[in-house]
Amino acid sequence: MKKFVALLLALMMVLAMGACSSSGTTTEDTAANDTATTDDAATTDDAATTDDAATTDDAATEDTGDTGAADGELIKVGFAQVGHESDWRTASTKSAQDVFTAENGYELSFVDCDNDSAVQLDAVRNFIQQGMDYIIIDPIVATGWDTVLTECEDEGIPVIVIDRTVDDSDKYASWVGSNFKTEGLACGEWLKAYAAAQGITEINALVIEGSTGASATIGRTEGFKEIADREGWTILDSQNGDFTEAGGQEVMESYCQSYKGQFNVVICQNDNEAYGAMTAMDQAGVTYGVGGDVILVSFDANKAALELVKEGKLNADFECNPMAAPDVDAVIKQLEAGETPEKEIYMNETWFVAEDVAGATITVDGAEQDLVVVTQEVLDARPY
Ligand code: AHR
Repeated sequence: MKKFVALLLALMMVLAMGACSSSGTTTEDTAANDTATTDDAATTDDAATTDDAATTDDAATEDTGDTGAADGELIKVGFAQVGHESDWRTASTKSAQDVFTAENGYELSFVDCDNDSAVQLDAVRNFIQQGMDYIIIDPIVATGWDTVLTECEDEGIPVIVIDRTVDDSDKYASWVGSNFKTEGLACGEWLKAYAAAQGITEINALVIEGSTGASATIGRTEGFKEIADREGWTILDSQNGDFTEAGGQEVMESYCQSYKGQFNVVICQNDNEAYGAMTAMDQAGVTYGVGGDVILVSFDANKAALELVKEGKLNADFECNPMAAPDVDAVIKQLEAGETPEKEIYMNETWFVAEDVAGATITVDGAEQDLVVVTQEVLDARPY
């Protein structure tokens, strides 16, 4: 009877929410359909709606009443994603939605946290209540995690952190992501080699940072600054563009007014910010890229941005690889088998450039690393 009532409740809630849902992940069973509704609700940018959707999942979870995956059952995975601020983020979400499917033995509950740390903590706590088998977190900010990770640990739910790091707790099974400081160091080392090859003796750089408190921002800022300090470059300003195109444009518009004629390098901490910065520089009559007044550099290396590198509008793009989900799948399989996964798993990343003028390699943190000139062949091989 309890099962019948729970099913009826779940069905009524799904029908009620169906009226306002548009599209999203579709999976076969009722609980998975609830998951798709959560996804849709979360992308409305409404934290309250996200919570409502999580309650719908509660009803479905009540039906099974279990706390772990038994043989033949789908493995319940909750993913608290940062948001939808960038093309990189879209690729990261797609990677998870492609891997954590019913076909692959998973039931994915996806929450888009819209860059709001409070929503992300709530999402994780809802996942605990819903009895997820595993929780994946891409932490919006690096700190403030120990309490909720302790709650996951107390409930015996393994957490896998992806992309950005958690810096104030080690209560997670594994982390899969990028070395952001290395990305920033690589950017600096490439700029040094490029400037030397072009006979540029003075660097006056403007930085458009990512979201404040994100380890991606912290690492890229630290890495680039380390080289800038070593080489005696001037960083005229470094402001938050929130990893968005609108943010990049707004910051660059203000830079174009405040530092008119004073800068020869713009470092954007992701591709979307670079698109916005290009719009602002176009409007201000500042030229950039190969042969321009300003050396323009970005991070992420989405395919659309690499097209711009090939065209010479971006001088270089330092990859941040968003395809973590297959590695997370491998970690979960290890945990299911009672094995201990690696605590830290680094994604492979490539440094892309528009011209072959700085040499074929740079040395980053003592290691020789390739520079890849973007050609049509390189573009054709890109997965995202
Ligand atoms: O955490 C990874 C960063 O977050 C990517 O560089 C950026 O595009 C995203 O928003």
